Parts: sequence; C-alpha cells; structure tokens
Amino acid sequence: MGSIRLGMIGAGQIAVFTAREFRRHAACNVIAVADPNQERAAELAAMVRAGHVHTDVGALLGRDDIDAVYIAVPNAYHEALACQALAAGKHVLLDKPFALNAGAARNVIDAAEAAGRTLMLGMNQRFERNVQRARGLMAEGRLGDIYHVKAFWRRRSGIPRMGSWFTSRSAAGGGALLDIGVHVLDVALHLLDDFEPASVSGATFTRFGHRGLGEGGWGRSEREFDTFDVDDFATALIRLRGGAVVSLEAAWAIHQPSGNDHDVILYGEDAAMAVYGNQLFEPGAHDGEYTTVQNPQAPAIAYPHCSRAEHFINVLLGTEDPIIDPHQALTVQRILDGIYESATTGKEIQL
Ligand SMILES: NC(=O)c1ccc[n+]([C@@H]2O[C@H](COP(=O)([O-])OP(=O)(O)OC[C@H]3O[C@@H](n4cnc5c(N)ncnc54)[C@H](O)[C@@H]3O)[C@@H](O)[C@H]2O)c1
Repeated sequence: MGSIRLGMIGAGQIAVFTAREFRRHAACNVIAVADPNQERAAELAAMVRAGHVHTDVGALLGRDDIDAVYIAVPNAYHEALACQALAAGKHVLLDKPFALNAGAARNVIDAAEAAGRTLMLGMNQRFERNVQRARGLMAEGRLGDIYHVKAFWRRRSGIPRMGSWFTSRSAAGGGALLDIGVHVLDVALHLLDDFEPASVSGATFTRFGHRGLGEGGWGRSEREFDTFDVDDFATALIRLRGGAVVSLEAAWAIHQPSGNDHDVILYGEDAAMAVYGNQLFEPGAHDGEYTTVQNPQAPAIAYPHCSRAEHFINVLLGTEDPIIDPHQALTVQRILDGIYESATTGKEIQL
C-alpha cells in the first residue's frame, strides 16, 4: 500500500486531536467521517479535508475507497463497531478502553483474526516521549530489576462532561478507572514487559460526581443521562506472575494540592525513576551520596512521531512493527474487570 485511505468513526473531542496526527502523516488521506451528529461530523470532515460525511456508520463501512478506520465513540459501542468494521475488511485503530469487559474485547480479537485485518488499540501514552525514554534507560539496565511500580493519574476536578455517556455505567462501563486508570496501568505493564497478572485487589468510590461536584468538562457529546453511576476514584494492587507488584490509583476528582497529579514510578534494585517527571533517583559516585538526576541522558527514542495514529499508519504501510498487541490490551481489560469485581466482592481476585 502506497498510502492509507482512512475513515473516522466518531467526531467527538479526542477525534479532533487524533485527526491532527493523521493529517501530519504524508501517506494518510482521510476520505470520510461518520457520526450520528451531522454537525460534528461535518466540522471534523472540513478539518481533515475529507470529502464525505455520513450519519450512518454502515454507509462509511460500505465504501470501497477506505482501507482502515479510526474508532472513537462511547465505550458501549466499541465492540459492535470494531467487529462490524473488521467484518467489512477494514483495519481498525480502536481508541481505549478496549471494551466494556474482557468478553467483549475477546470478541473483537476473534473478529480481527477471522477477517485477517490489523487491530490496534489507541494506547497513546506508550508513545509519550518520557515513556519511550524510560524504556530506553531500562533496556540499558540503569534501574536494575524492577519490583514495584506506583502508577497514578489523579485529577482534582476532572470528571468529563457531567450527564454525557462518560458518567453513565451503561454507556461507559466504568468511570475514572476505565478512562484514565487504563492508561497508567498499560504503561506500567508495557515498561515492565509483563502482561501476566496473578491476582488483583481493588476498591472504587463515587464521592463527587453524584453530588454534581468535580466536573472538568472533557467531551463533546450531549448531556443525556441524569444519573452519575460510575467511579470517580479507584485504587488497586496488582500482583504479576513475574514477581513485581503494581499499585494503581485513578481519580477524576479528589482533594489534593495540584489539579493534575500523574506519573508512573518505577522502583528498581539499582535506581528508581519517575517516568513522566523524567527524574532518576540513584546513589551518587561516593559513599553515602544520593542524587536526583533531572532529564537523564537516554538513548534515542524509537518513535519520534510520538503518535499512536502515525504508528497505526506506519504499521499498515509496513514501515514499523506493531507495539500494541491486542492480547496485551485484553490482559489490561481482564485486570480492570478484576478490580471492579474485587471492589464489589471485597475479595482478592485470582486472574
Ligand atoms: N486515547 C486517549 O487518550 C483518549 C482520550 C479521550 C477519549 N478517548 C476515547 O475515545 C472515545 C471517544 O471519546 P471522546 O472524548 O471523543 O468522547 P465525545 O463524547 O467527545 O465524542 C464521542 C462521539 O461519538 C459519537 N458517537 C456516538 N455513538 C456513535 C456511533 N454509534 N457511531 C459513530 N459515532 C458515535 C458522538 O456523537 C460523539 O461525537 C472513548 O472511548 C474514549 O474513552 C481516548
């Protein structure tokens, strides 16, 4: 394939950001946009210079001038639309989280295998410059064996548009854990290179959203739900078969000094690293010395475009090997399911 002809399904807030990345790629042409909201679809189509606007996804998937689709729609539609696109012979970049649960995610993998098409998840955090740098430093052995990871994304007031699909369990499947917990959990496992969980114990809370507090405003969809029935805080401990443990926290709303507190801290035998803070904590050259290295010298990063969208296009063109294996994303989904189950039962869940 000399270039990729793309369809965009869903013209909401993240699609606007991802569209810029697709446009940046010289070998990607966006042909059509589909969204039941005609106005949003037309606006996005104008932005990416796509000639066709559909309010019916089936019409976009029926086009034979499209090779691949990017799907960014409410979580409840991920499974059905991804399966429909794969069955129509399109390669799929599906934004996170994978699906409402692991069973639904497994169905999408089966559909990709049956169709012989590429399926990739939108784990954009893997391409963050500092995540790539950390991977380089780890490959050099700078941290030694890593036995503990503290992964957190906590917003003081960051609940997406209240009353939109995001805050309804039926449409989203879950709250902060599925929305932002998924990112830092994926980064932790990606850096550890260990997607074999043994068990998980977790707790979830709804302490702000149901009182109408903590809205940050993300999202373009309509306010159509009048209940807030998802978590605005989740915490978990995940034991991996390789021996390391990951402690995870995700908050859409919480009392804390800063508006956004987000990092993945790797604790190794030889050094520790704050991945997003890009700091290394290690003994100094002399006895008793201890140093914090800001912006440590790291090997050149593997994906200078820092973009899941560009990576997807490059994988289809055959110029990059895929680094987001859907089976890894399925494992992440199994862990998220386990956290919700543990939160409900009050028990540790064996995976
Ligand atoms: N990778 C990331 O960092 C990231 C960031 C934000 C959102 N997301 C994910 O992207 C998806 C969309 O999120 P958003 O923030 O753009 O939400 P949004 O509410 O801003 O937009 C959702 C869009 O989907 C459209 N839609 C609804 N049903 C549809 C259907 N059946 N077919 C086509 N379009 C449909 C809506 O009309 C709306 O325009 C979610 O799954 C979300 O978790 C990923």
